[in-house]
Amino acid sequence: MANEPQGATIEDYLLEERRFPPSEAFKAQTLAASPFLYDDADQDWQGFWAKQAGELLDWDSEWHTILEWDLPFAKWFVGGTLNACHNAVDRHVLAGRGDKVAYHWEGEPGDTRTITYSDLLVEVQRFANVLKGLGIVKGDRICIYMPMVPELPIAMLACARIGAPHSVVFGGFSPDSLIDRINDAECKVVITADGGYRRGAPSMLKPNVDMALASTPTIEHVVVVQRVDEPVEMVDGRDRWWHDLMEAAEPECPCEPMDSEDLLYLLYTSGTTAKPKGIMHTTGGYLTQVAFTHKYVFDLHPDTDVYWCAADIGWVTGHSYIVYGPLTNGATSVIYEGVPDAPARDRLWDIAERYGVTILYTAPTAIRTFRKWGTTEPAAHDLSKLRLLGSVGEPINPEAWMWYQEHIGGGRCPIVDTWWQTETGAIMISPLPGATTTKPGSATFPLPGIGAEVVDDAGNPVERGGGYLTLTRPWPSMLRGIYGDPERYRETYWSRFEGRYFAGDGCKVDDEGYLWLLGRVDDVMNVSGHRISTTEVESALVDHPAVAEAAVVGANDAVTGQAIMAYVIPRGTHTASTELGEEVRQHVATKLGPIARPKTVIFTDELPKTRSGKIMRRLLRDVAEGRALGDTTTLADPGVVEEIKRRASESPTED
Ligand code: WTA
Repeated sequence: MANEPQGATIEDYLLEERRFPPSEAFKAQTLAASPFLYDDADQDWQGFWAKQAGELLDWDSEWHTILEWDLPFAKWFVGGTLNACHNAVDRHVLAGRGDKVAYHWEGEPGDTRTITYSDLLVEVQRFANVLKGLGIVKGDRICIYMPMVPELPIAMLACARIGAPHSVVFGGFSPDSLIDRINDAECKVVITADGGYRRGAPSMLKPNVDMALASTPTIEHVVVVQRVDEPVEMVDGRDRWWHDLMEAAEPECPCEPMDSEDLLYLLYTSGTTAKPKGIMHTTGGYLTQVAFTHKYVFDLHPDTDVYWCAADIGWVTGHSYIVYGPLTNGATSVIYEGVPDAPARDRLWDIAERYGVTILYTAPTAIRTFRKWGTTEPAAHDLSKLRLLGSVGEPINPEAWMWYQEHIGGGRCPIVDTWWQTETGAIMISPLPGATTTKPGSATFPLPGIGAEVVDDAGNPVERGGGYLTLTRPWPSMLRGIYGDPERYRETYWSRFEGRYFAGDGCKVDDEGYLWLLGRVDDVMNVSGHRISTTEVESALVDHPAVAEAAVVGANDAVTGQAIMAYVIPRGTHTASTELGEEVRQHVATKLGPIARPKTVIFTDELPKTRSGKIMRRLLRDVAEGRALGDTTTLADPGVVEEIKRRASESPTED
């Protein structure tokens, strides 16, 4: 029986019975209390998005066509013109809200800056003039490689103001990554800093730029923010200090009217081995959906909320939910430069308490880390102002969800588990707080206006059970393509299932139609013909009280095709032992059934992760199968895999 293929695209083992209806208190004040959004969108999804575009944004001129759809190429709000910077900054000042705080910024060493919308307008106009002074015109691409300092959003907005698309490269990336991205986009200017603070010490950036620039012929100028005040080399004529240029710049710079479909930015997704893809986002549709989702998914009350998305602006989460969404909606946000354990493990809770944060948006990897650290740190701070919590980036294990709900949210905050991608530009699947009954670990339903369906190998919709997540119709913030490579765009996203966007994620639908993301389909394991998702086994492992975090992979096995290898980080005072390994294996078997029981449990202190915190299972497969490691350039800490290799060689295989 165990050896017979079961036929399901991805099988469904995890049963989760807990559910959390919205509280009366939350319902009483939420923006999404009644189902009117879904009803509106059901009746006419294009009209629904047009209504949002009209309500949420200022347009210089009206569009004549809501959507032109020539699969897989979409144009939204065709003929309309607007400027993203005007929408994010100017209009709030013009409406008399200039004194409102846009950002409470806090550096890792503890220095702070309070930036109002008026301050932003002053800085952004000056920097837009700096760019013009360096010869930048509408359409030129600008590379931004910076730490999390206020100059980063200012630089992005200045680019948007003059119509020069930005390409932000995460500050943790190497000179090689910079070279690929600069050359692919043929950027003319790099904006950077001498360095930023990380784990209590300066982490230098300018030297990386210097190395990259030997191989980037299109770069004419480098603008350098002085952040850490360490000596850096400045090349005469090419490199200029931000503060010198700003001092000399004219104070006023009008917004360039942009076509709704003009490129707002490029953001490169690394992929695993292939050349990074320059994901293209344009102006009108992108802003519409980020503003809509930021308002309704986070239930934003701009006059009273203090909103904090604790991601890095170098990722799409930061683009959409630190910069464009919150600013377009006139929100007050927190930005923090550094890591969560500098100087101590309570840094986030200390910040949340001091600024009175009401909405917190972070990633499962961070939540699992906090859970591993324990409850002392959050309990030592007053987090009573928090009223909504969000999660993004990976499937959230039900136990991590429960911990977040209880120990950070004080049991009173709804959690929005938001599924989306760099390519989708904005949140696609998520609860609407106050309207949706949530289940721990489920991203619940597609948002109003969004079409999502789970399909099987043949592309037929799956009513109940596991399969592939697809999107069935265009959406305003969708990627418009891969920069310079329309064929690769078609091939990567639109060729697997006819007429559908294939996201690359597994997903299951439960009896009530809730969606449960199951991780990347490349990671799905095949044990004796059973296709088992990594997510479900990992969640069953994390369900054991002694487990802080887990990653599983399918490794070649002569008998079962693949065998499940589990890499497990013990929690709190628990330590690695053969008995504990046996216990957690048994726990998985009890939760999911014997077929999902890991063959081997390897205890470790860390897991290999990308710099955005996603577990790199591909490298764990290499370790499990004794291969040389594949590409490790996107790994946050290369030492981790060596340690795991050593542990793996010491762990007995059990069965
Ligand atoms: C994963 C981040 C489960 C998924 C915004 C997706 C998630 C990839 C969730 C995109 C979630 C993101 N539940 N999985 N709530 N959110 N993912 O481009 O595999 O960095 O395809 O965008 O992250 O990652 P990206």
